[in-house]
Amino acid sequence: MSKTNKYKEIYKQIESVVNGETDQIANMANTAALLHEAFDFWWTGFYIVKDSQLVLGPFQGPVACTRIGFGKGVCGTSWERRETIIVPDVHKFPGHIACSSLSQSEIVVPMFCDGQVYAVLDIDSKELATFDEVDKEWLEKIVELQLKK
Ligand code: SME
Repeated sequence: MSKTNKYKEIYKQIESVVNGETDQIANMANTAALLHEAFDFWWTGFYIVKDSQLVLGPFQGPVACTRIGFGKGVCGTSWERRETIIVPDVHKFPGHIACSSLSQSEIVVPMFCDGQVYAVLDIDSKELATFDEVDKEWLEKIVELQLKK
């Protein structure tokens, strides 16, 4: 199955799981689980803005760092720039925060509420250059589902 078709399927599944549930943490938890299993990512999860920091939220994968500052690492940079960041090789991203030495590539997608970033979706891969414009397009659609009730 092509990556696009896989995302189409997963999008429908996430939509049906998230629809009718208003709890943000519950929806993030199921979204992380569905994405992680479907694509066999290394780490899939959310960081939530709390008191001017990103704090670890629901995730699947190995233990991760709990707090990330504004502008720090890939997550904090995505928050600061208010845009999705695709990192083909994390070793070449200045300031990358290595929660796992096995991570090779990463994508971070900011999530907006009333024009403010309230969380980011972070996905890590054990392979180089896993993420491209297809992932960006679909993950941006998937994070939009999170706020729809
Ligand atoms: N690599 C991220 C930190 C979070 S872990 O990958 C789960 C970053 O540089 O922001």
